[in-house]
Amino acid sequence: MKTKHPIVIALDGTSASGKSTNAKLVARALGYVYVDTGAMYRTLAWYCLQKRVDVNDERAVASACRTWKTKLDCVEKDGLRSVRLLVEGYFPEKEIRLPQTAAAVAHVAAVPKVRAWMKKTQRDCIQFGNLVMEGRDIGTNVFPETDYKFYLDATLAERTARRTADGVNENLAARDQRDSQRAVAPLMIALGAKVINNSAMTSAQTSALLLEEIRKLMPAK
Ligand code: DC
Repeated sequence: MKTKHPIVIALDGTSASGKSTNAKLVARALGYVYVDTGAMYRTLAWYCLQKRVDVNDERAVASACRTWKTKLDCVEKDGLRSVRLLVEGYFPEKEIRLPQTAAAVAHVAAVPKVRAWMKKTQRDCIQFGNLVMEGRDIGTNVFPETDYKFYLDATLAERTARRTADGVNENLAARDQRDSQRAVAPLMIALGAKVINNSAMTSAQTSALLLEEIRKLMPAK
């Protein structure tokens, strides 16, 4: 009998391009598990700030990542199953969205040993079943073997307006630049990824397009 491997839908893209909203809509529609990999990097950034680890000190960050006590957990809320990375049994849901965490995250995300740890941990999420995983390097690096690759983008003005509407004031251009220029697994469009620029689209339209494309890729039953 042929073993059935879980499906991974990789959703990459720039900051505030609608990855989270659309990944959740798609995961809900398909009954898949949602994974926010940015939250994992943010959790490490928050942990470093908590433990007074200098986020500009690559070795210190790598050492924190080697020794922190974490666990993957899958929870269900409002019909959506999602994976959380717990650190010392705690999920810092609010703390990871604070401006100081956002400012620190691209530094920890540039550390090669951190990226290796994240890749392994993110691949381990497959234990929970079919996934919709959003991030910056899912199609290029974490699950390069998947056939389901998407890249979301929108104009900088539109993305900035979206963050402002969420009450978050952030220099997105600076973070995008750091994410795109780091040496290891930089943000880029995966080979074969379908690019969707959703500047003029609602999330209902974007997720409908994603679902249409995903269904086209699924083998006929
Ligand atoms: O998606 P987000 O804004 O929560 O991501 C936070 C940061 O984490 C982002 O600036 C870059 C980093 N990140 C990454 O390098 N690779 C991923 N797969 C996800 C996020």
